[in-house]
Amino acid sequence: MRKLIAGNWKMNGLASSLAEIEALRGLTGEATCDIVVFPPLTLVEKAVERALGSAISVGAQDCHAEFAGAYTGDISAAMLAEIGARFVIVGHSERRSSYLEADCAVAAKAAAAHRAGLTSIICVGETRQQRDEGKAIEVVRAQLEGSIPDCTTSTNTAIAYEPVWAIGTGLVPSIAEIEEVHAAIRHVLEERLKRDGTLVRILYGGSVKAANAAAIFGVPNVDGALVGGASLKASEFSDIISAVA
Ligand code: PGA
Repeated sequence: MRKLIAGNWKMNGLASSLAEIEALRGLTGEATCDIVVFPPLTLVEKAVERALGSAISVGAQDCHAEFAGAYTGDISAAMLAEIGARFVIVGHSERRSSYLEADCAVAAKAAAAHRAGLTSIICVGETRQQRDEGKAIEVVRAQLEGSIPDCTTSTNTAIAYEPVWAIGTGLVPSIAEIEEVHAAIRHVLEERLKRDGTLVRILYGGSVKAANAAAIFGVPNVDGALVGGASLKASEFSDIISAVA
């Protein structure tokens, strides 16, 4: 399966950061994996222009579940598609915790993304407390079951397993822990999507760096990465991309 390496800039980046897209272009060339960058919304359209003709796709970090309407401050998936976004992240833990997004809201956003022709990256992951209580698998299974809409296919969806305690902390689960959760996610996908569930890409996210990327990419059912902090600088991000065998 061709790996997918995604870089989530979160709320970082002014126009000057677009230079990183150009630098990334130069550093990645004919990439052996799919690359997608998620700049803040203000830079999406310009990032699409800078990435044109390269191996880099551009996505947005969230979308609304409705096509249009009285939702002040929100952006629909169709609006994102219109400015050239091809992907959208839904259900990132920062949105689940800050905006209390429930699984059903995440599923509705993913469905809206698919209707607009976007590929969704649906995020799931347990907190430290849930892991310490031995509930990581149970929590991730339940989140996933509730967050994938009926229209999910291997072409319109990737799943990102991001343990909340590993995001931005420098902490990473052990290889065995990553393997166990990714296998559980694969199992849920196969239950729901049958054969097509074997083809959905499952990304790992949470403190991925050049130094740990190769080991993580070697884990069964790890089909790429969702990278936060280490995606902001093209040189660092391209080192992670180079770790794809
Ligand atoms: P991090 O963030 O790589 O900075 O830990 C990952 C994410 O939140 O997607």
